Amino acid sequence: MRAKQRVNNKKTAKYPSGSKNAGAKTVTVKPAGYPLKGMFHEYPEPSELDVFEFYAREQWNGFIVRKGDFLFDRRMFPDFAFKVIDVDPENSEVGKNTKFIVEDYEMDFFVPEIKNQVTFKNIIGQEKAKQKCKLIESYLKNPDKFGTWMPRNILFHGPPGTGKTMMAKALATASDVPFLPVRATKLIGEYVGDGSRQIHQLYEKAEEMAPCIIFIDEFDAIALNRGYQEIRGDVSEIVNALLTEMDGIDEHDGICTIAATNMRHTLDSAIRSRFEEEIEFSLPNIEERREILTFYTGTFPRKLAKDVDLEAISKLTHGYSGRDLVEKLLKNALHKAILAGGKVKMLHFEAALSESAHKSTEPPIGMFA
Ligand SMILES: Nc1ncnc2c1ncn2[C@@H]1O[C@H](COP(=O)(O)OP(=O)(O)OP(=O)(O)O)[C@@H](O)[C@H]1O
Ligand SMILES: [Mg+2]
Repeated sequence: MRAKQRVNNKKTAKYPSGSKNAGAKTVTVKPAGYPLKGMFHEYPEPSELDVFEFYAREQWNGFIVRKGDFLFDRRMFPDFAFKVIDVDPENSEVGKNTKFIVEDYEMDFFVPEIKNQVTFKNIIGQEKAKQKCKLIESYLKNPDKFGTWMPRNILFHGPPGTGKTMMAKALATASDVPFLPVRATKLIGEYVGDGSRQIHQLYEKAEEMAPCIIFIDEFDAIALNRGYQEIRGDVSEIVNALLTEMDGIDEHDGICTIAATNMRHTLDSAIRSRFEEEIEFSLPNIEERREILTFYTGTFPRKLAKDVDLEAISKLTHGYSGRDLVEKLLKNALHKAILAGGKVKMLHFEAALSESAHKSTEPPIGMFA
């Protein structure tokens, strides 16, 4: 435990000089174990966070809290401490309306997902995105080589199922740095202010871990343009928080933000201008479809019958995304073969094709602009 951290173990009758007497709106705490005994121990996760909040307010009511303080549990688990990560407003008093946020329970999605199986080799086509990712990989491995010219904010866009998420995962596999995947829809909290606070926390966490990659999937859910923000008022504060973080250049050395969307036209223009590059993911062309079909049929647990003509199938699947090919066509054909017993035959592909034809995700003209 660092000496400069203040231990808040008393109710404060009077406000210390310099403190504000406004009630705390939110206090963000993190379980810190038993610092007095020098051990860390899990605080049992309450089944209901509401119950914890009630309990926290009751026992710390009247406390004036500051960032970095320790708040000690006096009742259920004497001497168990929570470290105060954030107080809004700073130096304010816990009262009956204070909302408590317990970081460890809420922030699971910030836990870095470091290794996964996807590699660049598994991704067929999308050469421009691959090249950019290799550049990011080389920056993360050797930041000095780039001086102040490092890659920073990159936008992946294009139709669903074209490999955007896959590419981000491959980059995480290739570069040996933490990868912080976030779903934009998860950043929208229940209360106004939740979203922007989560964005700031995300970047704070990234600063601690830098060099690292932040990957914000489904980006359009939060980075909506002004017109949409008028409808969804809660989103505008998130947009502002994002702008602040994307501009926080010096503090964010070694943090690469990749955002992915399939609705680029709905993005806020100020946010869009923060991306140094917009990389388009396109639907696979005929050769790429053949390659995808060849690669994935190679992973089938059953052999292909001699009559299977992947070339012909690739001609018939114009407008299919990689996901359509894998999930709608190949999986379906394989399942038919398994039901029938024996090899995967052309007739299984044909049947799967006729079932999936009307479901292809070729975008209507004008979309994904
Ligand atoms: N270029 C590709 N090469 C190989 N497989 C692909 C490719 N594109 C898509 N796939 C297959 O489709 C699946 C879905 O791809 P992914 O999740 O990366 O798409 P996405 O672009 O992120 O889609 P969304 O916009 O819906 O999030 C992958 O797991 C993979 O099986
Ligand atoms: Mg995706």
